[in-house]
Amino acid sequence: MFKDLNGFIGALDKERELARITDSVSPELEISAVTDRVSKTPGGGPGLLFEQPTGFDMPVAVNLFGSLKRMCMALGVNHLDELAHEIEELATPKIPSGLLDTLKLLPMVNRLRDLMPKTVSDAPCQAVVRKNGTLDEIPILKCWPEDGGRYITFPLVFTKDMETGIRNIGTYRMQVFDGRTTGMHWQRHKGGAQHHRIAERLKRRLAVSVALGPDPALAYSATAPMPEGLDELMLAGFLRRERVELVKCVTNDLEVPANSQIVLEGYVEPGERRREGPFGDHTGVYSHPDDFPVFHLTCITHQRNPIYLTTVVGIPPMEDYYLGKASERIFLPLIRKTVPEIVDMHFPAEGIFHNLVIISIDKRYPGHARKIMNACWGLGQLMFSKTIIVVDKDVDVQNQSEVAWVVGTHYDPERDIQFTRGPVDDLEDASDLPAYGSKMGIDATRKWPSEGFTRAWPKKLSTTAMAAAKAEEQWQKIRKGWRP
Ligand SMILES: Cc1cc2nc3c(=O)[nH]c(=O)nc-3n(C[C@H](O)[C@H](O)[C@H](O)COP(=O)(O)O)c2cc1C
Repeated sequence: MFKDLNGFIGALDKERELARITDSVSPELEISAVTDRVSKTPGGGPGLLFEQPTGFDMPVAVNLFGSLKRMCMALGVNHLDELAHEIEELATPKIPSGLLDTLKLLPMVNRLRDLMPKTVSDAPCQAVVRKNGTLDEIPILKCWPEDGGRYITFPLVFTKDMETGIRNIGTYRMQVFDGRTTGMHWQRHKGGAQHHRIAERLKRRLAVSVALGPDPALAYSATAPMPEGLDELMLAGFLRRERVELVKCVTNDLEVPANSQIVLEGYVEPGERRREGPFGDHTGVYSHPDDFPVFHLTCITHQRNPIYLTTVVGIPPMEDYYLGKASERIFLPLIRKTVPEIVDMHFPAEGIFHNLVIISIDKRYPGHARKIMNACWGLGQLMFSKTIIVVDKDVDVQNQSEVAWVVGTHYDPERDIQFTRGPVDDLEDASDLPAYGSKMGIDATRKWPSEGFTRAWPKKLSTTAMAAAKAEEQWQKIRKGWRP
């Protein structure tokens, strides 16, 4: 695993997964345009390191997570499902029945030890401490022409619940208002917003620290939909197979990852709001301007020769799709602890997470698909799912063309659609009201007589094993002489 961002960049270099851009490219629209162009190549294109952002001597790293291969590299696996398997094992430990069995548990015990962060006193991220530093030193991007300004798009925002001391880390964009203040775009449903709510009730200033560019597993963890009250650093420690090292901030009492490239220390005042946006979002459209809390910078600390890690979002697919894919795989075994009938799930890139989720189930009783929809609408950030498609377990939900065929042939519109109302994603633009609207489930499972369907369900076409073997043999011959 990678000690820090530099280690990850070195590995990407070795694997030829990184393009180093030595021409001068401007943080104002140009870096994002290049990133968008590269992201649209099949497979996501390479990671990008802009070594000469115009007007700055700090390199900009972007699209580092923007392919399945690099997402796997970031998390130290060949396939994301390896993590799902490990989590499944950790969440369902078997009672050892002898010495050998007990010894087999040792690696698992070590993984559990990695969940706890530890505090260090000497940290690379504090090699340079600048209490008078300003954001103007960092090549922060303006991504899209009508953006309200420059945005920090990949921050790890650290806060604590003032009553319980429980930490939260989330990735919430920060619009630069001036060298010492930014917006703090934690949406109302998110962990940071809850800590802010508590601070406002207590009429106290909320300490906020922002880590930029820690090691890749840690950077991913801030985007993960961890249940409220569960520390993202536990997930990071598990993923990086080593305890996260934290260091106490210089001007507030929070702790931040010692291996961050840059740390912004500061606070948010109770009651203060400022207009934020518009912002070219991962929905592919500009988010509407709205009032959000304001982050006040008190100190910048950084490594010697830091790299600025950022991301560009826009019309999918872009880098955030691959970050979301990791969450889809990592959280599936955990979701199955509550909803064990779920076999697989898939968030297509075009559905930008909240618009569409496809779920296959081991259907056991009448109305089961509707139970799954309701469970999802009540489960963490899955509550935002505007459309949930439920299919039987023999359907490959990762194959969108198969799903489209199955839905079309399996659902009766009037009978199989379930509507509900409730909280919707802050980025939902089609609902009448912000953050409150309707959602729809499509039951595309085969219907049973106990569900009122008494006709015979038609049999899916397939040939005999013998004819299939002949077809394969003939196809190999046809293929050799065929030039498409
Ligand atoms: C690149 C990127 C940018 C994001 N920007 C925001 C944002 O501005 N506001 C927000 O509330 N969530 C944003 N998110 C989603 C949150 O990071 C995500 O919901 C996370 O789980 C929140 O953590 P929390 O549950 O601890 O609040 C972003 C995610 C990614 C990948």
